[in-house]
Amino acid sequence: MSQPKSYKASILLVEDDQSLSALILDELEAEGFQLMATATLEEAQQQLSLSQPDLVITDLRLPDGHGMSLVKHIMQLEESKRPSIIVITAFGSVRQAVEALQAGADDFLTKPLDLDHFLLSVHKVLQNRQIRHELSVFRELSKNEQGFHRLLGKSRAMRHLFDQIRVVARAQGPVLIHGESGTGKELVARALHEESDRKGRPFLAVNCAGIPSELLESEFFGHAAGAFTGAQKARKGLFQEAQGGTLLLDEIGEMPLPLQAKLLRALQDGSVRPVGQDNEVKVDVRVIAATHRDLKQKVAEGSFREDFYYRLETFAILIPPLREREDDLERLAQQFVRQHAMVQGRQIQGFNEAAMTLIRRYPFPGNVRELQNVVERAVAFCETDLIEPRHLPSRLLDNTPDLGADLHDKHNPQETRLLAGNRLPTLDELQRRYVQLVLDEVQGNKRRAAALLGIGRRTLYRWLDQE
Ligand SMILES: Nc1ncnc2c1ncn2[C@@H]1O[C@H](COP(=O)(O)OP(=O)(O)OP(=O)(O)O)[C@@H](O)[C@H]1O
Ligand SMILES: [Mg+2]
Repeated sequence: MSQPKSYKASILLVEDDQSLSALILDELEAEGFQLMATATLEEAQQQLSLSQPDLVITDLRLPDGHGMSLVKHIMQLEESKRPSIIVITAFGSVRQAVEALQAGADDFLTKPLDLDHFLLSVHKVLQNRQIRHELSVFRELSKNEQGFHRLLGKSRAMRHLFDQIRVVARAQGPVLIHGESGTGKELVARALHEESDRKGRPFLAVNCAGIPSELLESEFFGHAAGAFTGAQKARKGLFQEAQGGTLLLDEIGEMPLPLQAKLLRALQDGSVRPVGQDNEVKVDVRVIAATHRDLKQKVAEGSFREDFYYRLETFAILIPPLREREDDLERLAQQFVRQHAMVQGRQIQGFNEAAMTLIRRYPFPGNVRELQNVVERAVAFCETDLIEPRHLPSRLLDNTPDLGADLHDKHNPQETRLLAGNRLPTLDELQRRYVQLVLDEVQGNKRRAAALLGIGRRTLYRWLDQE
């Protein structure tokens, strides 16, 4: 799938030194930004009353005054209209730089300008801005939209699912969530946690297929110091990390048999024994397992333990595939258009009749995730206000579901990129990336990061733990 064209930010440069200004503009132009330039404070303020750049880069010493007054002027603008700010200071004037940061500037650079550093700073500030924007869009949207926690949908099947989640959340035994790829198993697990009285305590998700089998045991149960080569220090396992909270064992169908036996014991006894340690540790963790596989068949084949299966299945939740929730399909598609249009800053009303017919006809083997990807791509390619068939991937046009595509893109290493390419990042991902940005900003100082984020240090640790 080709990447959507990324939106090009606009930048206002305020610099009276003509040769420096020309140099900077050249660099920025090569990056494809939309540019405006002025040489005085007065012109800059005039420009800001006419346009809304994403970023203002300003020298602090200007012919008709000090750049700080521009910073202050910008900070008085309404938040949604306020550009980010990078100030350029003379070499050695650290105090001024600090003052500018305190007044609200996002970064500062000193003369003589190091161009690599300069571009890095511009990209970082703009990425930060984009993430803040996406977060606010999500907050806004989640206020308006119908659903349950982060699960959207009003079909009978979904309302039934929400009722089930409410009931199961109040109980304690293990839960087994069945559902095809992309149906929202992880969202259901999170909703279960949020609805339960474990809310506020850790929610950890682990992909059982993603961990080499020889590491699984210590990953789950921890290990004592010196338990095996490479284990210098003792380490807590996921069960202890999730103490008091919920542990999601995703893709449980991939769990090797010997470990199934150990997990079953942990579930039955409510305690775990770290590798290389003699005594057991009590744990209070609710286990939720999820799979897209037919576990009963795996039991029949002998690759899944029957006793483990029955223990997990204390509460079973089945998420129906998207194609069986016809009345959700259209609504979800429209909601995703609104989300992506807002994130990408576009005015798109929805689908034309022909495009909607194609969507309705397509079976979406990758379920909600595939729908989300299809819509994000369509929004990026759409140059009018309605999505048309030509904006949809060809598999929808000839109705040939691609069973490989879109189903498993979530472990894509690209995901660490700040602006997700193919799909809308989830709120948790955004939160994680934002926290990481803030941490980078303060050189990993967690106390300062927590203060900047306006959260307690313990909350920060919890957020970091969830990675
Ligand atoms: N009902 C829904 N409302 C809104 N978004 C949804 C819904 N269901 C799924 N999604 C979105 O679809 C994507 C896939 O969801 P999730 O990761 O929970 O699926 P999954 O069943 O765990 O998939 P897999 O089997 O591939 O792990 C996510 O981006 C999620 O936010
Ligand atoms: Mg999943």
